[in-house]
This record gives sequence, structure tokens and C-alpha cells, in this order.
Amino acid sequence: MESMELMRARHSVRKFTAQKIEPEKVEQLQVEIEAINRESGLFFAVVTDNEDVFKASQPSYGSFSGCRNFFLLFGDKKADEQVGYYGERLVLFAQSLGLNTCWCALTFEKKAIPVAAPEGMKLFIVVALGYGETQGVPHKNKPLEKLAKLTNQTPPWFKQGMEAAMLAPTAVNQQRFRFEQVSERGVRAKALLGPCYKIDLGIVKYHFELGAGRENFNWE
Ligand SMILES: Cc1cc2nc3c(=O)[nH]c(=O)nc-3n(C[C@H](O)[C@H](O)[C@H](O)COP(=O)(O)O)c2cc1C
Repeated sequence: MESMELMRARHSVRKFTAQKIEPEKVEQLQVEIEAINRESGLFFAVVTDNEDVFKASQPSYGSFSGCRNFFLLFGDKKADEQVGYYGERLVLFAQSLGLNTCWCALTFEKKAIPVAAPEGMKLFIVVALGYGETQGVPHKNKPLEKLAKLTNQTPPWFKQGMEAAMLAPTAVNQQRFRFEQVSERGVRAKALLGPCYKIDLGIVKYHFELGAGRENFNWE
């Protein structure tokens, strides 16, 4: 599936079926995670068939049910934005394998996490993973004018970047990001304070790159 289609198809899913993730898909996820870890210096891991972190045996826990698989996203103390950027790359890769996900900052059992943080790193966030009972639903969007400055000269690639950014998951769907074209090829993105706002910024920048095309612009 093309990346724009993947971004359109991805929605947070919190209720999972008992279907196991096939070993070939776990293997593919591991290969992608190794590539990300090598490239970024972060430490991501996938855990499958775990009943404890999302209390899968309870019919409902937080807003989750039946979640037995997840990604763990570790990084250096100040790696929030990078965790968002590379985490969303992994989320969209999982989507390409027909799997559903939900970023989760709060409602998981921290004490039950089965992987220790590497020296000097911390666990930023967990991403629930598996086969959803449904594919989820599109989130509500803020008006485009609130998220970006557009003019008559705004090029198509910037608009496509914004379309992709608006499909991105953000904590409590806060969409506290702003994009601005500051020169012919220069784009500035910033995030306003809010829960997990730096992780959100990395996620939306990854989406913007996929929509706009990395060859069309530079981050300023
Ligand atoms: C950084 C981050 C943290 C999140 N934390 C939680 C969480 O703790 N619990 C939860 O149910 N959803 C969580 N979400 C999911 C958001 O609520 C969801 O992405 C948002 O409502 C947009 O919906 P969508 O992902 O379906 O597009 C989180 C999302 C992000 C990006």
C-alpha cells in the first residue's frame, strides 16, 4: 500500500481479537525494528503474547481490551521527538502488515514491562498492537488554517504535507502543532505545550515528510 493510503487507513484501535500475530509478521517487525535502532540510536522492541501489561485477561482495562502485543519505545532522556518520528514509522509499517495499533502513554502496567531499559535510556511510551475488532474511525480535525499558514503561493507539496500531518495520531487528539513555509523550500514545524507534545511533533513531522515528499523541502 502506498504511504498516503496507509496513513488514511490507520486509526487507533483499542479492542483486539485473540488472533495471534503470525511468526512471519513478527519476524518482519523485528527486521524493521533493527533497522530503526541502527539508524536512530533508539531502542525499540516488540513483545508478543503478554497478558500482563494491558491486563489482557480482564474484559476491559483502561480503554483497552484483549491487547497481548505491543511495542516498547526506549531512548535517551531527551529523545521525545525522535521517538515520535521513528515510532510512527514503525506504526505505519505494522499497518502495512494488516495490524492495528494505538499509542499509549498512560493506561498500561509499568511494573509489568518485561524488558529493562538499556543503560542511560528510559521508556517513553508503549504502542498497543494486534488484530483489531474493527479498523477504528477517522479522528476529528482542527481547521487547516489553525494548523498552518497558507497563502495563494503555497505549493501543492506543502498542502499534501499538511493533509498527511492531519492524519497523524496525537495525544488526546490535541493537534497542538503548527507548520509554516518560511522560504521557497524551508518548512518550520513547532508544537505548543500539551501532554506528550514533543512525541506528537515527531509523529506529525514524519507524516508531513511522507505527504510532501522529502525531496521537495528542508526542515528549518
Ligand atoms: C503520544 C500519544 C499518546 C497517546 N496516549 C494514549 C493513551 O494513553 N490512551 C489512549 O487510549 N490513547 C492514547 N493515544 C491515542 C490518541 O488518543 C489518538 O491517537 C487520537 O485520539 C487520534 O485518533 P487516531 O489515532 O485514531 O487518529 C495517544 C496518542 C499519542 C500520539
